[in-house]
Amino acid sequence: MVKIFVPAAVKLFGEHAVVYGKPAISAAINKGVYVECEKSDKLSIETAGYPSALRFYPGEGRVEAVGAERFFAYINAALRLAEEKWGGLAARFYIKSELPPGAGAATSAAVSIGLLKAYALCAGGDVEGIELAKMGHRVELEVQGIASPMDSTTVTLGGVLKIKTNPFSVDKLNANLPPFYIAFLPRFETTGEIVRGVKALLERRRSAAFVIEAIGRVVEEAEQCLLNRDLECVGELMGINNWLLGALGVVDERAINLLNAARPFIYGGKISGAGRGGAVILLPRSEDALERVLSASGYVYHKVTIYEGGVTVL
Ligand code: MEV
Repeated sequence: MVKIFVPAAVKLFGEHAVVYGKPAISAAINKGVYVECEKSDKLSIETAGYPSALRFYPGEGRVEAVGAERFFAYINAALRLAEEKWGGLAARFYIKSELPPGAGAATSAAVSIGLLKAYALCAGGDVEGIELAKMGHRVELEVQGIASPMDSTTVTLGGVLKIKTNPFSVDKLNANLPPFYIAFLPRFETTGEIVRGVKALLERRRSAAFVIEAIGRVVEEAEQCLLNRDLECVGELMGINNWLLGALGVVDERAINLLNAARPFIYGGKISGAGRGGAVILLPRSEDALERVLSASGYVYHKVTIYEGGVTVL
């Protein structure tokens, strides 16, 4: 039996702008996705359910639970790629995510990477490092249409990473960030839909390009704050990054209300990932007080730490 842990990841700075060639800083966390593979008489895949949102279809009066099935497109694309590389495999896969799918914590990338790694090992091969991250990125591109290599690289390598895409490079930052919180707001759109919405805005409104430029500047400054372990500075820049993401139309009222309620108890916070719901990260000044705010909000939340390990064979 092969068993893999792949960390989820949060975007500390620079999401969306990274799609347009700006650098970003992301961090792998100690919660993520487990993938098991066991040889069997046929190929089967089981996912542990994780309803994360309700999707409402106006006019149709139809409400649909959105859960682990959000992973299916990624699973299918990853399977096709694995079969291409390592040939057909009769095996049973079991995939379990500790965090909701399609909610800004890179769990889709973690599922793809975990499946590719488990498939390789189960088929008697192996793949790791940047080669594995690149395969995961191909899966994201196929499913979403547009995707940066940020999520697949971070969940594969672990730690706090500065990612540049133009040309591609990765630097591991010695950031030593203390524990922080991640709250999940139900999200109704997929990552692909939100990323395509931002692209359409950039095509419609030339001035939106300055927002992308400004996010890139925030990332550069944030790198120094992280290396200096200056949490006041990290928190303040998270706030600036969040308002810039708001200008791109991806920060909704729920995230703003949550961040306002938490403000006295955090250095700063922001959405993480594509936005319009999904993950909000909060850097605590007082963990107890922040936990009271988060409990009262009713949203699912987790206290997390940085996971340095990347893809881990258990
Ligand atoms: C999604 O997790 C992060 C985005 O920057 C898209 C991407 O980088 O592919 C919004």
